[in-house]
Amino acid sequence: MPRPYVCHGAHYTGHGGGHSGLPGGEGAYLRGRHRPRKAYTFTLLFTTAVREVLYTSVLDLIGKTPLVRTRLSPKEGVTIYAKLEYLNPTGSLKDRIALKMIEDAEARGVLSRDKILVEGSSGNTGIAVAAIGRLKGYKVLIFAPRHAPVEKITLMKVLGAEVRLAESEAEAVRLARELASKDPRYFMLDQFRNPANVAAHYEATAREIWEDLGGRVDCVVVGIGTAGTIMGLARFFKEKKPDIRIVGVSGRGEEIDGLVDPKTGDVPLLEEELIDDLMYVSREDAIKMMIRLAREEGIMAGMSSGATCYAAIQLAREMEEGNIVAICGDSIMRYTSILKDFLA
Ligand SMILES: Cc1ncc(COP(=O)(O)O)c(C=O)c1O
Repeated sequence: MPRPYVCHGAHYTGHGGGHSGLPGGEGAYLRGRHRPRKAYTFTLLFTTAVREVLYTSVLDLIGKTPLVRTRLSPKEGVTIYAKLEYLNPTGSLKDRIALKMIEDAEARGVLSRDKILVEGSSGNTGIAVAAIGRLKGYKVLIFAPRHAPVEKITLMKVLGAEVRLAESEAEAVRLARELASKDPRYFMLDQFRNPANVAAHYEATAREIWEDLGGRVDCVVVGIGTAGTIMGLARFFKEKKPDIRIVGVSGRGEEIDGLVDPKTGDVPLLEEELIDDLMYVSREDAIKMMIRLAREEGIMAGMSSGATCYAAIQLAREMEEGNIVAICGDSIMRYTSILKDFLA
């Protein structure tokens, strides 16, 4: 195992330098590796600007994802923006919560390096916990549903996690909980019950959207899995702008990878009163929209992003004017094995 990265403070939002432990501009010039010589000289002169582009660990790259204006809206006065969460280091929004939940448990003194992290995940959290857990010096065991795309299972293994397959995501979570409760060598972050999951999105994801649009956000469309993202965003935005429309998106059952149907699944973090609408999107519509996003917008987002953008287009039809933000949770690269059936 390589030496673990030790993080200081709550810099997980990726504001640069947070995990380096380097004071001020010290060492700033060390990382001009990919920069041309001229830019290198420039960085020495302007060290405050430099700190934004210098990173000593990928943990510093978590969050601060771009918000991109799309051409998806069918209405002239309505704009649909896509928040590209797949640009997080391991390729999904789950980097935010994996780091937050691990650091929160460490800070509370309930997690020590001798533990094995165990989680039940449809894949993205498993990948994030495997990568970030390993960087921090933990061994990782993930229970994942048998139906998870092969890309996700392979990546977890590449990252050194042990992967055990379960019949469904719900079953994967149950097995992880059972192991953690019986065997003290294991520690479960438990994304489905952990308030740090919501906090990660309240403190960072929501604020980023708010700041990028200068508060001019009218509707936010979010996939529901653990409900951590939608709850974090809903709490933040309802405080700032009570008339904002918060829309949750899911498929029936577990038909859209990463999303859980809150009517049939167990989603304890979800507070339904904070959500204005729940929209269902079929797996087929989500996949077709994923392909359209890639082809028409160059947005290489995944299946749940197909679902949120599909729902955003329906919502745009109902609005006179305003800005809609659709969360694009992961990357199309996670689904290449299933896409061949949809290519005409
Ligand atoms: C790609 C993707 N988008 C969205 C979500 C939903 O996020 P949350 O678990 O915060 O509800 C998930 C959950 O796993 C996901 O994998």
